Amino acid sequence: MKLKGKKALITGGNSGIGLATARLFIAEGAEVVITGRDQKTLDEAVAELGSKARGYRADVTVAEDRKQLFSAIARDFGKLDVVFANAGIGGRTPTGATEEAAFENIIHTNLNGAFFTVNSAAPLLNDGGSIVFNGSVHNYLGQPGYAAYAATKGGLVSMARAIAADLAPRKIRVNVVAPGATKTPIWKRGARASAGAEESAKLSNFFSSTIPLGRWGEPEELAKAVLFLASDDSSYINAIELMVDGGATGAPFGAAILRG
Ligand SMILES: NC(=O)c1ccc[n+]([C@@H]2O[C@H](COP(=O)([O-])OP(=O)(O)OC[C@H]3O[C@@H](n4cnc5c(N)ncnc54)[C@H](OP(=O)(O)O)[C@@H]3O)[C@@H](O)[C@H]2O)c1
Repeated sequence: MKLKGKKALITGGNSGIGLATARLFIAEGAEVVITGRDQKTLDEAVAELGSKARGYRADVTVAEDRKQLFSAIARDFGKLDVVFANAGIGGRTPTGATEEAAFENIIHTNLNGAFFTVNSAAPLLNDGGSIVFNGSVHNYLGQPGYAAYAATKGGLVSMARAIAADLAPRKIRVNVVAPGATKTPIWKRGARASAGAEESAKLSNFFSSTIPLGRWGEPEELAKAVLFLASDDSSYINAIELMVDGGATGAPFGAAILRG
């Protein structure tokens, strides 16, 4: 068991990559706090995860929510060994046609939310702990329409390096896992919620054609990478970005769409 006796916080643990990670952490011996905004999926996730899980409704963008969350963790759960700052949203911000509020919402959630989660968690973290941020291939891809999202995911990587320096005296490691296209509910949220089966299949096939391994990632594959960064298996790995993208950023010319 790679996390026996460890205590972990996973923001956005009621869905997708966060939920898959909560399942794996518990299977590896951890106790887990999960958070999210949606009480219904939070309750369902806690019911599924069982007695090793606790759920707290908390929006990462709301200071009062974070305050209540961390006082509840200190009261009910104690110290933390692992923080997976995973909560995030997508959303398009095409240049020339974007309202400031839409841009700021993405930055506020993905970047401020991640920083202030870790900021509040730091006093509760045991020395020798591990922090993992959830980044993205968007740090590199330059996909049209995603300036804000890309900025947040690139920002997480540089932020992680600075935080790794801040927390080095306490031997707390800080890394980023960077997923490529992964099968989670994020692809059905926002503007994509109304997409029909045909449109979704087209999108799915398009992304598969851009990935050297020719397929999307599974949330469980991301969870394994997070477990690696969270556990002693990565005891000498600090301040890195681990791409988990089927080769999309490292070997783009291996993808069907570019091989021709
Ligand atoms: N799936 C992909 O292809 C992909 C690729 C690259 C990076 N990522 C990153 O992976 C992370 C997880 O996404 P996912 O794919 O697993 O999508 P998901 O299933 O939509 O999960 C997103 C999670 O974030 C939570 N969340 C969003 N805004 C929040 C807020 N303001 N406060 C608290 N929780 C909030 C959601 O909780 P509620 O539903 O309760 O709001 C949900 O649990 C994100 O940071 C995303 O950017 C995903």
